[in-house]
Amino acid sequence: MSSPDALPSPPPPAARLIGLGSWLPPRQVTNAELCTRLDTSAEWIRTRIGITTRHIADPTTATSDMAVEAGLRAMKSAGVDHVDALVLATTTPDHPVPATAPTVAHRLGLRHVPAFDLAAGCSGFVYATSVAAALIQAGTARTVLVVGAETMSAIIDPADRSTAPIFGDGAGAAVLGAGRAGEPGTLGPVAWGSDGEHADAIYVPEGGSRRFPGLPPGDGAGRYVHMRGNVVLRQAVRHMSQVSRDAAAAAGWTVQDIDRLIVHQANARISAAVADALGLPPEAVPSNIARVGNTSAASVPLLLAHAAANGQLTAGQRVLVAAFGAGFTWAATTLVWPAGLHAVS
Ligand code: COA
Repeated sequence: MSSPDALPSPPPPAARLIGLGSWLPPRQVTNAELCTRLDTSAEWIRTRIGITTRHIADPTTATSDMAVEAGLRAMKSAGVDHVDALVLATTTPDHPVPATAPTVAHRLGLRHVPAFDLAAGCSGFVYATSVAAALIQAGTARTVLVVGAETMSAIIDPADRSTAPIFGDGAGAAVLGAGRAGEPGTLGPVAWGSDGEHADAIYVPEGGSRRFPGLPPGDGAGRYVHMRGNVVLRQAVRHMSQVSRDAAAAAGWTVQDIDRLIVHQANARISAAVADALGLPPEAVPSNIARVGNTSAASVPLLLAHAAANGQLTAGQRVLVAAFGAGFTWAATTLVWPAGLHAVS
């Protein structure tokens, strides 16, 4: 039993965003270039998806290479040369075994820190951020590097007009540090969920333990993303709208309190529909899908970094971050944008 004179224990730390970094492979593939090999038009892609160009990694670049670049930049942005743990959100690890995060940690010189991959599709970065925040709140780590990195071009069939125009490659990263609850930059409660009933709406048949007798081994199709786009589109709008409301409520905000919505860049029509459902004007919803495409788990940190760098995120704004992806999975969280955060690209 504690004595009546015992000092109250300090409140647990909150996780605070202290650094942001991004990296895109140099090669850009325009809609016009895609049209030379696909039965589509630049206009169709621009108006139905909202993309004009995307960055595609060269064949020698893997997810870990991009994750290292983004991680270095996030640590530079945070002014740190060490972190206590690393979480890598990706659906395109370098190999099925081992996880990619230890390789990234090793190449960043983060000798022997705990490092693991987290697979939650395009929601991966928000999931990973929430897990990292919990590590900080529990006192397990004081700083965590969270990376979202994807080589989508490795799992997209270049001949499939329903997926090839959508996806791009890249990496974004954030450093979370220990802060005080209520301080600008601290993450609010996460709202998140999943629905495995739609596991086959976006999936890659091969490469895991489930074998498909109908697919001849190694015919090529099994290693690519198969997607039922219109199911995904409807569910993405529904779940990102609801999870945004839930995260706002958990933070004690109303939807009208949201100054900026950072929404996973799946399709410009999806972002517009979510903004519409929440009653937010277009200027409250930064976007970079036109020039990077859908980069899956890299999408949210890339947009955070780009929006911060171009002045669309400024100190004191109430920011809601929402994502949706394969699984299905969805997640959202909140923060008040901190002063003095300079994203490094
Ligand atoms: N160029 C021209 N036509 C295309 C095309 C392309 N690149 N891709 C599909 N089409 C065609 C379809 O074949 C279909 O033709 P049909 O009517 O003759 O059968 C027609 O366009 C309409 O297809 P539909 O799937 O209903 O179009 P859509 O308006 O839903 O747009 C997507 C298709 C894929 C762009 C859209 O569903 C989407 O973006 N979904 C979400 C994808 C996503 O975000 N995935 C990642 C989740 S995180």
